[in-house]
Amino acid sequence: MIDLSTTITGIKLKNPLMNASGALCMTKEELHELGASSSGAFISKSCTLLARDGNPEPRYADFSGGSINSMGLPNPGYQFYTSFFPELAKYTKPLFASVSGLSLADNVQIIKTFSEVKALSAIELNLSCPNVPGKPQVGYDFEHSAEYIHAVSKICKKPLGVKLPPYFDFAHFEQMAAIINKSNIAFVTCINSLGNGLVIDPAKEQVVIKPKGGYGGIGGSCVKPIALSNVHKFRELLKPSIQVIGCGGVTSGTDVFEHLLAGADVVQVGTTLVQYGPKVFDRLLKELEIIMKKKQYSSLVDCKGKLKQLS
Ligand SMILES: Cc1cc2nc3c(=O)[nH]c(=O)nc-3n(C[C@H](O)[C@H](O)[C@H](O)COP(=O)(O)O)c2cc1C
Repeated sequence: MIDLSTTITGIKLKNPLMNASGALCMTKEELHELGASSSGAFISKSCTLLARDGNPEPRYADFSGGSINSMGLPNPGYQFYTSFFPELAKYTKPLFASVSGLSLADNVQIIKTFSEVKALSAIELNLSCPNVPGKPQVGYDFEHSAEYIHAVSKICKKPLGVKLPPYFDFAHFEQMAAIINKSNIAFVTCINSLGNGLVIDPAKEQVVIKPKGGYGGIGGSCVKPIALSNVHKFRELLKPSIQVIGCGGVTSGTDVFEHLLAGADVVQVGTTLVQYGPKVFDRLLKELEIIMKKKQYSSLVDCKGKLKQLS
């Protein structure tokens, strides 16, 4: 038997998989389905203070390398989740809430309220929301990020994580890691979508989504190398007590294995979950077990963070 269990901020998961925020986790029905699925934990859609309809459709499209979206943060508002989360306590696995307030004051209000919700195991603050037109994402503004992290960690009474955008420059990794190392953030989730990609339909000679002239966040298999570099670099730069959730480009059990090798403690699935639904966790877990067995590993500890360098 292979032990796939893992721990994040002292919370035990029976396996390392969970959904990425935004993938089939907005409505009551979707969250119940995730609760009943074989994932080790689940997380809700990033929420704002007030309900939002999001951007006009079509706002999500698949392409050969993954997905593009410009959802515009559709969600029913944090109060909906505050009263609904207790219903999800019957699923005996950890529930995370994703928070994406449109200002620091909004985030503080939402996180204060969620801190009192017993059904919640942890909170993930989304510092990277590239899809609201006219708003820069906080994760690319280091001063602003420090201010957010300082303010929310003071009032949060649950384990608190930050979901980061992808970084591409070692100086940026170092700046963000230094901010997080000075805080009481318990985990980071790397990565959010690659911002502002453009997918073109050559037959129709047009873009594939309506908002923002066709520009949108990119997820799916094409983002995996960037996700892995971000997981690996943050694992290297962060204090050992701060854990890393890997997210990006997971389509198979081998992809999960690669995230673990890079140093992830938990692995989230976005685009692939949107494409195949919550049953996909069964396949990913089976594939992960097969690869672990082939390598004669009996638990995740045998491979977690064990990426080798060329000599
Ligand atoms: C339809 C859709 C909606 C998303 N909404 C959110 C969101 O609300 N909050 C968030 O932190 N990330 C959101 N994301 C980003 C994903 O959580 C994930 O970080 C990204 O898609 C990379 O993972 P993937 O390659 O598995 O798709 C969304 C992604 C998709 C495809």
